[in-house]
Amino acid sequence: MSNNASHRLYKPLDIEKVREFEWTDKDFKFLASLLNEKTGIILNEKKKEMMYGRLVRRLRALKIESFSDYCQFLQSPAGETELGFTLNAITTNKTDFFREMHHFDYLREVIIPPVREQIAHSPNYHFRIWSAGCSSGQEPYSAAMVMKHSLGNKVANCKILATDLDSNMLNAGKKGIYDAEKCRETIPKVYASSYMKRVKSSEGDMMEMSEELKNIISFKQLNLLHEWPMQGKFDVIFCRNVMIYFDKETQDNLVRRYAQYLKPEGILFIGHSESLLSTPDVFKCLGKTIYRLLP
Ligand SMILES: C[S@@+](CC[C@H](N)C(=O)[O-])C[C@H]1O[C@@H](n2cnc3c(N)ncnc32)[C@H](O)[C@@H]1O
Repeated sequence: MSNNASHRLYKPLDIEKVREFEWTDKDFKFLASLLNEKTGIILNEKKKEMMYGRLVRRLRALKIESFSDYCQFLQSPAGETELGFTLNAITTNKTDFFREMHHFDYLREVIIPPVREQIAHSPNYHFRIWSAGCSSGQEPYSAAMVMKHSLGNKVANCKILATDLDSNMLNAGKKGIYDAEKCRETIPKVYASSYMKRVKSSEGDMMEMSEELKNIISFKQLNLLHEWPMQGKFDVIFCRNVMIYFDKETQDNLVRRYAQYLKPEGILFIGHSESLLSTPDVFKCLGKTIYRLLP
């Protein structure tokens, strides 16, 4: 085969020509800016393909014929409820049980022992955790398993608020049913065997969280950019792998708001690729993405 012939053979497909729907820069920019305004998530040019792939199903489901019609629909009164679907489609929900295990070690070894003492002295004491950006619930359930294992029945004195923007993820968290193989891979055996049971499901081999764990977690929809209706302060906030999608200003505002929602010396856990470098006046770094509220 001549060089020319092989060149013709491997000519890349013109992706614009094979797309089911036209996807212009104008549509992308409109959606990126709308979604940024609503969620704080930064969607730059690199996310253009990802956005097409995630939204194309909505166009098919609604039988809308082009992205520009979809953009128009979103701006109409009838499109108001559609925005929830758009947000659900665009959020990145990657999560795991016991992701960044050192946070759960810290919870078990450093945070829980004084809580146990406190509960023993004041039975009405309540220990409060907030999992902000909880996705489908693996993060709050991991914390709940650690607490149940350390505190036994006294886990009833603990409450976990688990919030996310994405209503599909919150529904998954409320169900508390997860793929069994994934559970085996990520959950320490002692926890899985004590606090989960096998369930039959059309989706295959699954495991379900115990009612006791479900009872200490409240899943609620909350957009972190909006007002926070919670009363009272938290002992621990997990906000991991969420701020990474926001710009610096939004991250800093969020961190300062978290500070107002923590009890004195409260702990903030953040994700492995996040840092609080620009808010050293509010939190002290204890190492490995663990931060303590400064007085
Ligand atoms: C990558 S997941 C992180 C899940 C979990 N914290 C972890 O580290 O495994 C990020 C989550 O943040 C949520 N999120 C993104 N923007 C949000 C916003 N403005 N308000 C609330 N949640 C948001 C997404 O829906 C998604 O479930």
